[in-house]
Amino acid sequence: PTVAVLLGGPSAEREVSLSSGKECAAALRGEGFEVVEVDAGPDLPARLAEIQPNVVFNALHGRWGEDGCVQGILEWMHIPYTHSGVLASSLAMDKARSKEVYRAAGLPVVESVLASRDEVRARHVMPAPYVVKPNNEGSSVGVYLVLDGANTPPQLSDEMPETVMVETYAPGRELTTTVLGDRALCVTDIITEGWYDYSAKYSVGGSRHVVPAEIPDEIRDACFDYAVRAHNALGCRGMSRTDFRWDESRGVDGLILLETNTQPGMTPTSLSPEQAGVAGMTFGQLCRWLVEDASC
Ligand code: DAL
Ligand code: MG
Repeated sequence: PTVAVLLGGPSAEREVSLSSGKECAAALRGEGFEVVEVDAGPDLPARLAEIQPNVVFNALHGRWGEDGCVQGILEWMHIPYTHSGVLASSLAMDKARSKEVYRAAGLPVVESVLASRDEVRARHVMPAPYVVKPNNEGSSVGVYLVLDGANTPPQLSDEMPETVMVETYAPGRELTTTVLGDRALCVTDIITEGWYDYSAKYSVGGSRHVVPAEIPDEIRDACFDYAVRAHNALGCRGMSRTDFRWDESRGVDGLILLETNTQPGMTPTSLSPEQAGVAGMTFGQLCRWLVEDASC
């Protein structure tokens, strides 16, 4: 069967997606699939009509590729595709709305508000420490951390969207859990010097992953439980990855769900393939699993 791997695209995470897509394309060729790599641009429907793939492997990240837009095109064209469908993708990508879903499912999240860029520049919209993020981007693109005692509100760049999300800063260790199908794979503890930002995420040696994490069983089980419940509450399909902060001084009450990613990174430094490895799956097997799970 022919698999079209969608990669690149116009989002702020374009480079991450090029890296994810190339890895997945190579792995799928190794699994014996015929693979066509498609950089997702405005000609995407025409390219797909020409290629007529049996399955689309979605390796896009960020807006348009992870937020339901591409998923809608694939539904319309009746092409089975990997990962989540339209609704789960758009819900998960909207940080404010996905929080409402998590709250309704009884999952622990921090307080947040949507505010205009100008308002955030003019005054502290909540007591510091807090974080300002675009409501719909990933990979820590455009994240501002406002520390306790900061005098001035953050001077957001003009590239930030008109409306941004401001949320209480959750201190603690950075944990993450991948869900594949209906099961949580394992927990990774991400150790960085300072913030787990874009460069820590994608430079080799930018962060250290302890996998499986050396944490109490109770915390591991809570991560598994929350990750599976978030995946199901959003209606995700295939694979997702849920990110947490854990303030160990507060035990299980210190575990906060940050977000669920419906298109987890598949780059050489990414977390989900590493977790699949610990669970006994090679990268090729993981990509094959996703292709076999694809539907529309
Ligand atoms: N947004 C990046 C790709 C991730 O969550 O892995
Ligand atoms: Mg993300």
